Parts: sequence; structure tokens; C-alpha cells
Amino acid sequence: MAVDPTLSEALYERALAVLPGGVSRNTVLRRPHPLYADHASGCRVTDVEGVERIDFANNMASLIHGHAHPEIVAAVTEQLGKGSAFTLATEIEIRFAEHIVNRNAGFEKVRFVNSGTEAVMAMLKAARAFTGRYKIAKVEGSYHGLYDYAEVSQTSQPSNWGSESSPVAVPVAFGTPPGVLADVVVIPFNDPERAVAILDEHRGTLAGVLLDPMPHRVGLVPASSEFVTRVREWTESDGSLLLFDEVITFRSEFGGAQEWYDVRPDFTAMGKLIGGGFPVGAIAGTARVMDVMNPLTDPVLFPHSGTFSANPVTMTAGLTAMEMYDTDAVEYVNALANLAVAGIKAAIEATGAEACVTGGGSMFRVHMKAEPPATYRDSFVTPEESRRLTALLDHLLDSGFIMINTCSAATSTAMGEAEIDALVESIAEGLEMVGSPGA
Ligand SMILES: Cc1ncc(COP(=O)(O)O)c(C=O)c1O
Repeated sequence: MAVDPTLSEALYERALAVLPGGVSRNTVLRRPHPLYADHASGCRVTDVEGVERIDFANNMASLIHGHAHPEIVAAVTEQLGKGSAFTLATEIEIRFAEHIVNRNAGFEKVRFVNSGTEAVMAMLKAARAFTGRYKIAKVEGSYHGLYDYAEVSQTSQPSNWGSESSPVAVPVAFGTPPGVLADVVVIPFNDPERAVAILDEHRGTLAGVLLDPMPHRVGLVPASSEFVTRVREWTESDGSLLLFDEVITFRSEFGGAQEWYDVRPDFTAMGKLIGGGFPVGAIAGTARVMDVMNPLTDPVLFPHSGTFSANPVTMTAGLTAMEMYDTDAVEYVNALANLAVAGIKAAIEATGAEACVTGGGSMFRVHMKAEPPATYRDSFVTPEESRRLTALLDHLLDSGFIMINTCSAATSTAMGEAEIDALVESIAEGLEMVGSPGA
């Protein structure tokens, strides 16, 4: 019997013919087909079937002011009329650099690139150029984009991750060169004793230690002060660099989540929100380390370029968005997330669900676990938890809420308490249905 395909089904059929798996980014894949966006405004997205939903995914936590903010639209539209990319420098690039440098006392110089992946890659290469060493250390399970070295052990499994005291460097992509695995040292998150013991085995060989202060895939739990401080002390004693990936977490405070700690990293990679809705990445640090990219030195330790880097459209959108993301705005989105976390905790208690909520700054994540995970291994989702989490996400989608597919959420200035209350109510309903094992 012939079934009338919906608009989305028909689009997905066409997509499958020309895109591997029918998508350009795996994050938008959903069964039986992705949702296709038609338009959006503020915190609401309408799909091609005309269904409107409240957007708590915000393009993977990158939209700090929601969609189509009128000031960003106006500024970008004006810039588009003047040209979108030149083989010339622009003043807007300098203005945006001045703005970023003024947000954090540890930033003296900044370089713009086109994505978070590129920012992390450039940061690792800069650390190698500065130290003359080539190995890096990273946290097990932490996502830093697609660069070979940065993605090691991002998807480790119980079957291949090895012991806690000596995590195995596990490749993500088939065909990862063995040399890459040999040059990446994997440490456990928030476990200073084990992490420092592992680092000690590689003394004198590491260019840097790569840390996300609140790694989403590791459970969206902030790094403890003790962990960050011990790693910082270790890098200082070793002559290696502390490399912060703040691609997501820069939204957490005016100068990034690093404000939570007493230590400052040598380099910071940024992306997502600082592009105001356009593709972006950036690396910032002191002039001393950033000068490895200085083309006026001889030799240039790390020659660095990019056709669309610092294009005036991204710079305009980014500057407009970040000027509006002042300390009041940061406090506002953080308060919304706190409100959500308090509401979800109350819902978990009221329903007796085997679930918990983690987060920090303007983000939170629901786990189908009784206790908040401390490490990647703790946060590893079992098939049973995955089944319940998928059911919760389906319920939320059907009730009009878009979440990040780990059941994480990012607030934006386009939201208010009404949207938070509505989400909490829907999560409570979902937990009532699927909160307990076997439900
Ligand atoms: C912490 C972190 N680093 C790096 C990246 C890579 O950024 P992009 O997707 O812009 O390449 C991401 C993307 O989700 C991220 O969350």
C-alpha cells in the first residue's frame, strides 16, 4: 500500500542519494529521518512541516542570542552588501580582536580561524612549535573536534579503554596512523593522582596538556579546582603548556570558564558562540606564546593561514553578538540554566527517577544515572540508559523541545523563565514515564 511520504521523509530520500547517510553532520541525524528547519526566530525553530519547537540545542550551544537576532541580521546584511571576503585585511577583524582580548586578562593576542576543530588543531601545532616537543596529553572521552591528535580516545569503550591507571589511546577513525596514537597520552578526568602519575611517565616529551574545563561528552561536569591546579603545576614544572579548549565553555563567564580557577592556561581555543551564528574559531594567549604564528619573525615557527579566516561577515556577526554578551547577559543565561537544574532536580526527586542532572554556566545535561558521573567511564551510557534517554528525548521533541542529542541543553538570551518552566514540566512528565530502569 502506497504511503504518502511526509515532506521530511521525501527530503531525506533525496538527501540519501547525494549525502553519505543523508547528512553533512552526524549530529542532525535522527530516526527515521532528520528534522528539516524552515525558519527560526529567537528561541523558536519551525520545521518544514510547520511544527514550532523551543530550541535548547542552539546549534550545539553556539547560539547565545537564539536565532536571527535583529541586530546581528542587520549588521551582517550591511556587511554582505560590501563584500563577504577579500584578499585584504579588514578593520572589523581588528575591532573584534580588540574585543576578545579585552574579555580576559590572559589574552594579549588572538588569531581567528573557521571552526573549533581548526582552533584546537592550530593550538596544538602552536604548542608544538613553542616547546619543540610533539606529544600531547588529553582527557579520555573529551571531544575537541576532528583533528587526529585531538580526537584520540573520544569514543573509547569498556572493551578497549584499558585500565584506569593507564588508559589506552584508542583511535576514532579507521586509518588513524599508529604514530598519532603513540604521540597522544590519555589521562582520566578529575582524577589528579592518576593523571599526574601518567603525565610523569612522559616528562620532558609533551608539548601540552589539552583540557576542556567542562567536557560535554565526559558528563558535563566542571573540572575540579584541584584537577586544574595539579595539571597546571605539572605543566609548569615540565616546561609544557596548558591548553584550554573553551570552544563550548567560553559562554560560561565573561572571560570564559577559566575564570572558575586560580590558574590561567597558556593558550585558549574558542569557537561556537563567538561567531554570532557563523562558522568561527579563535586561539588566544599571551604575546609570548602567540608569537609562534607571527609572520614577521625569522624563522616563523608556525606558519598559519586560512582562506576564510577572519572574513568580515563572521567578524561582524561575532562582534555584534559578543558586545551584546556582556556580564549581565552572561549572568542572565547562567541564572536560566540554574533555574532549570533546580527544577529538574525537584522533578527527579518527585518522580523517584533513576536520573541526575549535571552542568555549569549556561548548560546542563540529564543522565539516566542515580549519581552524577565523575569521569568518562562513569558517564558511559549503558544500552538500558540509552533506551530510556532516547525515550525521554523523543517525548521532549514531541512536546515541542529540541535538545542536544545527549539530553543536554544550552540557554540563550532569547529565552525566559516561561521556556525553562515549560521544559522542566515536560522533563518531569518524561521522567514519570521512563525515569526508572525497566520503565
Ligand atoms: C569542546 C569542543 N571543542 C571543539 C569542537 C569542534 O568545533 P567545530 O564543530 O566548530 O569544529 C567542539 C564542537 O562541538 C567542542 O564541543
